[in-house]
Amino acid sequence: MKIAIGCDHGGLEHKNAIKEFLENQGHEVVDFGIYEQVSVDYPDIAKKVALSIKNGECQRGVLVCGTGIGMSIAANKVKGIRAAALSDHFSAKYTRLHNDTHIICLGGRVVGVGVAIELADIFVNTEFEGGRHQTRVDKITAIENEN
Ligand code: RB5
Repeated sequence: MKIAIGCDHGGLEHKNAIKEFLENQGHEVVDFGIYEQVSVDYPDIAKKVALSIKNGECQRGVLVCGTGIGMSIAANKVKGIRAAALSDHFSAKYTRLHNDTHIICLGGRVVGVGVAIELADIFVNTEFEGGRHQTRVDKITAIENEN
């Protein structure tokens, strides 16, 4: 799978560790930065990752900021993209099974690097269930198109 990844200054260590883990699993990872510990505005990175999925370059994305929340708010502003901020294993699994989420957003100041890697692992290796959940995801898309 081709996976987009990005972070701000709140998540550089996590981003690099997740990237290494995913590459070792055989995935191709497109790294949208940051690449060194500098202060940046998280919406700029979230936009790049979300657009790479919207335009078909990548299939999934992982974003890391201090909380995961700013990244998720920004990524969800790209039409058609579903991004989820989360910090537990159950949510990582069910946001794929039920929400067909494109991007997970993790908090570098919320979870440790080891947990972040496990969350990314679950996220990329869990498939959408479809069925009644497709109906619900379609309703999310309808809200987006109506408003
Ligand atoms: C940056 O200090 C911080 O606001 C950012 O990483 C993130 O937590 C925003 O939601």
